[in-house]
Amino acid sequence: MTGNIPSSRDGFTSKFGVVAAAAGSAVGLGNIWRFPYVVGENGGGAFLLIYLGFILTIGVSVMLAEFIIGRRSQSNALGAFKKLAPGSVWWLVGVMGIISAFVILSFYTTIAGWTLEYLIQAIGNGFSGKNAAEISGMFDSFQHSTARPLLWQLLFMGLTAAVILGGVQKGIEKYTKLLMPMLVLLIVIMCVRSVTLDGAGEGLRFLFKPDFSKINGNVVLEALGQAFFSMSIGMGALITYGSYVQKDNHLPSTTFQIALADTGIAILAGVMIFPAVFAFGVQPDAGTGLVFQVLPNIFQQMPGGYIFGVFFFLLLTVAALTSTISLLEVVVAWAIEELKMTRRKATILFAAAISVLGGLATLSFSELSEFKLFGKTIFDNLDWLSANFLLPLGGVFIVIFLGWILGSKIIADEVTNQGTIKMKLLKIFIFILRYLAPIAILLVFLNGIGVFGGN
Ligand code: TRP
Repeated sequence: MTGNIPSSRDGFTSKFGVVAAAAGSAVGLGNIWRFPYVVGENGGGAFLLIYLGFILTIGVSVMLAEFIIGRRSQSNALGAFKKLAPGSVWWLVGVMGIISAFVILSFYTTIAGWTLEYLIQAIGNGFSGKNAAEISGMFDSFQHSTARPLLWQLLFMGLTAAVILGGVQKGIEKYTKLLMPMLVLLIVIMCVRSVTLDGAGEGLRFLFKPDFSKINGNVVLEALGQAFFSMSIGMGALITYGSYVQKDNHLPSTTFQIALADTGIAILAGVMIFPAVFAFGVQPDAGTGLVFQVLPNIFQQMPGGYIFGVFFFLLLTVAALTSTISLLEVVVAWAIEELKMTRRKATILFAAAISVLGGLATLSFSELSEFKLFGKTIFDNLDWLSANFLLPLGGVFIVIFLGWILGSKIIADEVTNQGTIKMKLLKIFIFILRYLAPIAILLVFLNGIGVFGGN
């Protein structure tokens, strides 16, 4: 670790396991909740293929770009641009990242709150003896209630703030290293149960058999958005984390490891959910509630389902927490350095401010369910805006910044650790940064919103 971490960012210490933290940021509700629901809404297999294609080309490149910018600048998401391109307007990319963090946190904590509700239900044996229809009914009535989802959301935001405040970060490496493999193990066991259910085959076909007639511009944009969201890229969260990465870390392999873990867990979540979706007669395009309507059914059909249910929702809560702290840290690090706030003040102020917008996201399922902009609820707008617009656009600026402004010399330096290791794909990486990624992202976005007609 280089010694020049500004004291304002010392909430993260040098002992902090950055790679574990970055993996913890990537793996979260995006994999277990969002991935199945967008796959379900976008027709399954063909979507999955396009999603994988984006991860392998644009996704890993943007992730590596963020790590490079972070390690090079030794600075937060906004400071990085100021430091590497002084006197320019590139810092606005950092501002966009902070807005993205704000937006994502507001609706992410809604779902994290649902996870807490389900943890408590699992502990209280609340799914026991219920059939699929009753489990869906349970979800509906919870979702439409007002106080409980709001309280859970606030509690979860409080947990996130406590971690950011308390310097518990030192413990995170330990927890992530132990709890993430546990989560994977649990998911694998649940996959086995799910694929042996009657009617499971239809779910596997849905997930893995591409039906290209389902593809249109909007589906492609959703796949791109999901890739950005799941990998935690496009807003500088990994610039911030990259600034804590050791000089001798081999950034390309770190990137591949995180991308592999993130994608592997998403696919496992798909194998866990879709066979059960079809076996229990849930609609694959049920939307944001999909996994909450499906999971309890799987526990019901497993020996030891009670214990599995409790542990699953507990581990999912932890996975969500390691993601929300990476988001709040972006906002807090900026407020400390640019607004000269204390860590304490910044954390409390922004956790509270985000909770206000977050409350509106949560109420989108009850009191505000009829309040729509562009035909979507507040929740759906925040979700769409971040994944399909803010993150990909942030990604465009990040790759252009690295590819064109910082340039090949700095890129080569950082990926080869000053020439001490070889990087075979360097030329391809630079090509993706300079041409492929910015052009492809812009085309996918414009096509997705129907600029070229169609859809
Ligand atoms: N990737 C996380 C998930 O899949 C969510 C997340 C955390 C995120 N930090 C981010 C998304 C930064 C985009 C940008 O749950």
